[in-house]
Amino acid sequence: MNYDRYLNPDIAAVPPSGIRRFFDLAANMRDAISLGVGEPDFITPYHIRNAAINSIVDGETQYTPNRGLLSLRKEISWYLEHRYQTSYDPEKEILVTVGASESIDVALRAIVSPGDEVLVPEPSYVSYSPSVIFAGGRPVGVVTGQDNGFRLTAEAVRAAITPRTKALILPYPNNPTGGVMERADLEQLAQVVRETGILVISDEIYSELTYGGLTHVSFAALPGMRDYTLTINGFSKSFAMTGWRVGYTCGPAELISVMTKIHQYGILCAPRQGQVAALEALKTGRERNYEDVIRMRESYDRRRRLMVEGFRAMGLDCFEPLGAFYVFPSIAKTGLTSEEFCKRLLEEERVACVPGTAFGPCGEGHIRCSYATALDKLNTALEKMAQFLSRLQAG
Ligand SMILES: Cc1ncc(COP(=O)(O)O)c(C=O)c1O
Repeated sequence: MNYDRYLNPDIAAVPPSGIRRFFDLAANMRDAISLGVGEPDFITPYHIRNAAINSIVDGETQYTPNRGLLSLRKEISWYLEHRYQTSYDPEKEILVTVGASESIDVALRAIVSPGDEVLVPEPSYVSYSPSVIFAGGRPVGVVTGQDNGFRLTAEAVRAAITPRTKALILPYPNNPTGGVMERADLEQLAQVVRETGILVISDEIYSELTYGGLTHVSFAALPGMRDYTLTINGFSKSFAMTGWRVGYTCGPAELISVMTKIHQYGILCAPRQGQVAALEALKTGRERNYEDVIRMRESYDRRRRLMVEGFRAMGLDCFEPLGAFYVFPSIAKTGLTSEEFCKRLLEEERVACVPGTAFGPCGEGHIRCSYATALDKLNTALEKMAQFLSRLQAG
């Protein structure tokens, strides 16, 4: 049967994620090393898992409040105030969601009317543009480039704004480039927001993963920006909790209340044990000075430096990422497209990376490699990539 007439053509036309495609290919090759998926290789710390086990044993199997456990929202509020100097009322200004993913979806559905434009920096996380389309809006790409550290400039944003522009997605630290925005960069964007009144959806899921002595600056902490910002964060990356599916959005009560309505009807609540685990992550994190997060960050940092040095030693131009856990080297000099490079690398050397084009057309000429992978595997992957490159050069 042909189901075309039933499907919404705009939604059916959205391609599946380019990340998953290479991940699935690699998963079918038993000997492949995958640098494909953006997921911590750490298991969630034991005390966090144990809190969830105890909650199950104690029979806590019910729904939570739609907005999430109040105790968790209070901890989130404390955490954001002390880590990033932003202040949110746990009762009205915080919504706990099913990962940051649901936050992105619900934030867009709460604000986008049919035909509204949302600015989406490129390269960036694969779900933004599809989520804008699913919300009935039109994603408008704003290109960033390696020459200025993949930062978003005020000029580029200004040039993309039209009377239909509703919001800007601000994705830093960035997946896939590892680019970060420092306070001075953000202040220039804040000026554009003051002039135009557009909303900012700031996806800060990698806020704990910055390197080289940099501390993450939350956009909402800038003077006057709190009223214009929905801040999205979560537990997947910083606390190695991808499978627990807990994230959150903070912002003005009027926006959070409409987001809560969508979440209430569509989802009810984030999984209870995930919320209990997230509460433990923050509470014990506060008491122990975030030692789990620091330990994981230091480990990523060692691997980050190994990868950058490895790619540069192969003669590839490799931007030094200062956030998240990805490197985004340029493979342009090989003459292959990103897609061809990744396909051949997987077939010939059994190493899976993601073509830069999965993150927008301007990712052409780059590949994304996640270094959230065991050190011995990273070393082997680098050796195999060096062999692949020498063969390309020789042939
Ligand atoms: C930039 C960015 N935002 C959001 C997400 C989704 O996070 P979550 O697991 O909390 O849904 C990811 C996952 O890769 C990401 O890279």
